[in-house]
Amino acid sequence: MIGAPHGDYRVSRGVDPAQLRAVAELFYGPFGRKLSGVLLPRRQEAAIRLTASALCPGEVYAAMDHDGVLMGIAIVRGRAPVLCPCRADVVDAFGRLSGGLRWLVYSLAVRRARPYPRSTRSIEGLVVRESSRGRGIGTAMLERIIEDARLEGAHELELVVGDTNPARRLYERVGFTVIKRGGVGPFARRFGFKELLTYKLQLVTRDAWQALRAEGAAR
Ligand SMILES: CC(C)(COP(=O)(O)OP(=O)(O)OC[C@H]1O[C@@H](n2cnc3c(N)ncnc32)[C@H](O)[C@@H]1OP(=O)(O)O)[C@@H](O)C(=O)NCCC(=O)NCCS
Repeated sequence: MIGAPHGDYRVSRGVDPAQLRAVAELFYGPFGRKLSGVLLPRRQEAAIRLTASALCPGEVYAAMDHDGVLMGIAIVRGRAPVLCPCRADVVDAFGRLSGGLRWLVYSLAVRRARPYPRSTRSIEGLVVRESSRGRGIGTAMLERIIEDARLEGAHELELVVGDTNPARRLYERVGFTVIKRGGVGPFARRFGFKELLTYKLQLVTRDAWQALRAEGAAR
C-alpha cells in the first residue's frame, strides 16, 4: 500500500483484507438500497457481507484519516467488468434456490462479457463518507487513479453514472466526457434516474502511445 498524504488524509491504493467490510459498508450507503433485491440481497447485513466477499483488496483505493478511519473509497478494475463473488457466498446471501440461480446468471454474464482490453480501467464506484464530502477527497482519489492508470500505460478510464447524479460535475471537471447513454426502463423509479451515462477519459491517444513506445525502443 502506497499512500499519498493530503493534509488530514492520505489516498492509498489497495487495502488490508481486514478493511473490506468497512469498504463494503461505505459502498452500501449510496448504492445498497438501489441494488437490493436485484444484485444484492434485501437484508443490509447480507448485502454488505456479499459485497465484501466480492471485492479484491488490490482493486480498492482508500482515503483514510491518520487514525485509519475510511473517509472514501473507489473500486477500480482492469479486466473483469462485473463484481464476481464465489458461489458459496451468493448462496449464503440469497438462499439455496435463488442463490443458485443468481450464481448461474452471474457466471453466464461473466463468461459472455468481453474483458476490458488491458489498456482500459473502469471505475466501478466512488464514495466519500457523507460528513467528509465537499473537501476535495473525491477529486484527490480520482487524480490518484488517473495518475496510476497513466503510469501503467492505460489508454483510457471508463465509468458509468446515473444522469441525475451531481457527481457528473466532478467527473466532467477532471476531463471525462459522455460516450454512451442507455435507458434503465422500469428501474427508473427505484434508481432515481432514467439513463445511465458511460463516461470516458482518454489518457493518451493510440498514436501518441505508439509514438512514445517507438521513442522508448529507439533509445
Ligand atoms: C461524488 C462524491 C464521491 C464526491 O466526493 P467529494 O469528496 O465530495 O468530492 P470533491 O470535494 O472532490 O468535489 C466535490 C464535487 O463533487 C460534486 N458533488 C457531487 N455530490 C456531492 C455532494 N453530495 N456533496 C458535495 N459535492 C458533491 C460537487 O458538484 C463538487 O463539484 P464542484 O467542486 O465543481 O462544485 C461524493 O459526493 C459521494 O460519495 N457521493 C455519493 C456516491 C456517488 O454518487 N458516487 C458517484 C457515482 S459512482
